[in-house]
Amino acid sequence: MSQPSAPGTSGGDTVSARELFGTKWGFVLAAVGSAVGLGNMWRFSYIAAEGGGAAFLLLYIVMVLLIGIPLMLCELTVGRKTHLSPIGALRQLGGKAWVPLGFLFVVTGFLILSYYSVIAGWTMRYAVEGITTGFPAAPGEYFGQISEGASAVWWHLGFMVLTMAIVMVGVQKGIERAALILMPTLFLIIVGLAVWAGTLEGAAEGYAFYLVPEWGELMDGTVLRQAAAQAFFSLSLGMGAMLTFASYLSRDTDLNQEAVTISFADFGVAFLAGLVVFPVVFALGLQGDVSESTVGALFISLPGAFAEMQGGRVVGTIFFVALAVGAITSAISLLEVVTSSIIDELGMVRRNAAISAGVVIAIIGVLSALSIDVLGLADQIAGDLFLVIGALGMSVFVGWFMKDPAAELARGAGTTFSRFIPAVMFLIRFVLPPVIAVVLWFAGRDAWNAIWEFFGVALGG
Ligand code: PFF
Repeated sequence: MSQPSAPGTSGGDTVSARELFGTKWGFVLAAVGSAVGLGNMWRFSYIAAEGGGAAFLLLYIVMVLLIGIPLMLCELTVGRKTHLSPIGALRQLGGKAWVPLGFLFVVTGFLILSYYSVIAGWTMRYAVEGITTGFPAAPGEYFGQISEGASAVWWHLGFMVLTMAIVMVGVQKGIERAALILMPTLFLIIVGLAVWAGTLEGAAEGYAFYLVPEWGELMDGTVLRQAAAQAFFSLSLGMGAMLTFASYLSRDTDLNQEAVTISFADFGVAFLAGLVVFPVVFALGLQGDVSESTVGALFISLPGAFAEMQGGRVVGTIFFVALAVGAITSAISLLEVVTSSIIDELGMVRRNAAISAGVVIAIIGVLSALSIDVLGLADQIAGDLFLVIGALGMSVFVGWFMKDPAAELARGAGTTFSRFIPAVMFLIRFVLPPVIAVVLWFAGRDAWNAIWEFFGVALGG
């Protein structure tokens, strides 16, 4: 689809006045923008380092190829075929029985954005303070002060206002324009930072920590669950974000090609982020903090390193700006799932839909801004468990209940990708459901434990 289509037309098909992406790159970059975000830097590098280094990377790539890409294709076909947001799309293709899955998507979007925005708020704060007052000399203590409480609430609200402002404006003028400017900027920054990090003294040790393979880790159920859940989270799958974006696509796009491009761009940025994070941390011997938590690597070790190293203020600011950029383009897609559902289901105009959704999410997010334990629990429940349930539902729906998904995948597909469609359909029907069901077992177990731990701590003091 390289032909721009004006709002209100839909590439020659019969669908009514739905605004479409104006250009092919608009869609691809918006979808990459959704995928590339805090997850790539905040979760990926940590999980990879802990989960077996290069062995994990291999597991992750296999996961992306065998599960991530087919699952993304499930969402893209449903979105493009119906030109509707998740609830309506599932109702149209599957009948009433599938509406609850659409609701689950919306609830997941709500919950993820509510805490994602808090983390994005910390990120924006570091970006601004890096250049104005500098990075903190005692980063652990500092992070303890800013991560919870009134100031975290304010930065969270600021981030939500920014996200709402973009989504309110619409698909072409808001979402697409933001992606066209922000995503290339983010790529350039991250490549530049990875090259720079390679020149640091501790780089070799950092690479070793990140990449030396430990095959034994792969036998651990938690690592398997983390790799799968991370793939879903990072590729924005399991909650209808890709479905929603694809609903703004004209019918002649090669979905297969787009899915491959989006997935590899996302993996590329995640991989590069690790090449930045670990050399920096090891250059200053701060690896002790890394093992404490995912948040520790990004919001304690790195600012600490930037405070100490020469030129750290500039490089650190650039790093956190890139992170904030990734966060905003992802938050846009999270809010868009909710907004588009409100527009389609309740008939509200976009502006009001975006504001009402945003305000409610912002209010729920205050809980995560006040307590990092709540944030962690919300992430475990929505970011791990709900996404996996959503992914399972989506694969079963497309594999076994949707009428002729292969024909929809073939529409607009070039010869290269057409050849793979039977294999993709096989994966969707026979591989995804059982594998995701196993992952769900572990995700359920871990979420259950987290809930008990949370209430145990809360009640037991
Ligand atoms: N993919 C985003 C990230 O890696 O940060 C997070 C995300 C965005 C998850 C949108 C789910 C989603 F629908």
